[in-house]
Amino acid sequence: MTAVGIDAIEIWTGNLKLDLPGTFAPEKGEDPEKYTKGLGLNASSFPDSYEDIVTMGANAAHRLMERKGLEPDDIGRIDVATESAFDNSKPVSTYVAGCLEQVFEGDFHHANKGERKFACIAGTQSLDDAYNWIRAGRNRGRSALVIATDTALYARGDAGEATQGAGAVAMLISEDPNLVELSAEQGYGSADETDFLKPNQQFPSVDGKRSVQVYLARMREALKDYESVAGDVHEADFAYAPFHTPFPGMVRKAALLAYRHVIRDTTLEDDLADEIGRQPRPEAFDTDDDYRDALREYMDLLKETEAYQEWYAETIDPTLSISREVGNWYTGSVHVARASALKHALENGRDMTGESLLVASYGSGAQAEIHSEVVQEGWEDEIEALNVDEQLEDRYDMSWDDYEEVHDVHNHDMDVDVEEFTAPESEFVFDGWGRMGERK
Ligand code: CAA
Repeated sequence: MTAVGIDAIEIWTGNLKLDLPGTFAPEKGEDPEKYTKGLGLNASSFPDSYEDIVTMGANAAHRLMERKGLEPDDIGRIDVATESAFDNSKPVSTYVAGCLEQVFEGDFHHANKGERKFACIAGTQSLDDAYNWIRAGRNRGRSALVIATDTALYARGDAGEATQGAGAVAMLISEDPNLVELSAEQGYGSADETDFLKPNQQFPSVDGKRSVQVYLARMREALKDYESVAGDVHEADFAYAPFHTPFPGMVRKAALLAYRHVIRDTTLEDDLADEIGRQPRPEAFDTDDDYRDALREYMDLLKETEAYQEWYAETIDPTLSISREVGNWYTGSVHVARASALKHALENGRDMTGESLLVASYGSGAQAEIHSEVVQEGWEDEIEALNVDEQLEDRYDMSWDDYEEVHDVHNHDMDVDVEEFTAPESEFVFDGWGRMGERK
């Protein structure tokens, strides 16, 4: 069977930067290490006053199409995944297509366009839709363009404010891909949850602490479900495990949970169980509280083992380096984690062809999905083409006053006019509703 997967990706960051330890922490009266060590973040990407989900998505897609020498006729569908949409009827993909049609020969009249919503997991769901469309033979030789784009902003003063971010990831899904082949097997954990919502409102209502627990619970279910179709996962099976990364500290918790599930070293498990007096299984305890206390003790011990720390350093930590500098990109976040891992491999001269990734996506509301991917022969050229370091370096570093102004500009309830902090360079810009996506 022909391989189907991600042929190419491009990343587009918002053009502004909020320094968390240097600018945010002093204003909040917090220890900078709460952000750098606790949450694991150094900075957030932020959209300048002329940027939004359309411009960032279109800029990422434009760069991808130009680099790959594609014309609209090569693309049979465009799906945008976002939880920052501004139009309840017309999908963001139509706005993006309108931008791209200004610069490419031909148009997207033949292309199926849509918008996917399930919080942050929608980016991965759009990949699935593209995969299924190609596998079903409905693509007529064309590729799919999937764009995950978000302005992940929280209300001022919300605990989530430290985890904000803005950016887009564009992905080309094709037969015989250059980057990764997607597995047919998937595992899900899905439940009706209300810890993170945006019912007709711009900024989310979040129960942050609960959202962390829901993420972990759904991820545990997805891993079990994945194993029920793909067989037992061993920690050695995967070169990297990119997780949805709202902030790296969240992934630290999820990775420990995953590791407990995938260690197949019974000696290590028995040793740890001996230290807490018995195996941490619910049936071994009289009350739920006793079980929870014992489990916490067990996990604390596991976290300190050399085996876990080595696995974390090799398999998880490299997935977090871009995220540390950009914050949460919601739908794009897990795709940034994959890029981060492969960039690490390239920079360290690691040959990844034929190696596997375990990709763990998540969306509040809530659903987790796990699948595997096999890295393809052309991966080095694809990752080498990313200019993410340059983009991050070029961001304008906001003062606190700048940040307050820009946050207000992106609050649709407020009518504020702020000058641009950066000069757009050959990119689509938002210049008022009448001139959406004009290229400057
Ligand atoms: N030095 C080192 N570490 C410190 C520290 C210091 N001085 N001060 C605090 N910390 C540590 C804390 O111990 C904590 O670590 P642990 O969780 O490992 O104990 C960490 O820093 C964060 O501190 P707090 O828990 O006190 O932080 P908070 O309550 O202000 O905010 C949050 C945390 C509630 C998760 C908040 O960031 C939030 O609401 N975020 C938005 C929701 C979110 O991202 N949820 C994640 C799951 S949902 C999801 O994934 C979907 C999505 O994209 C939104």
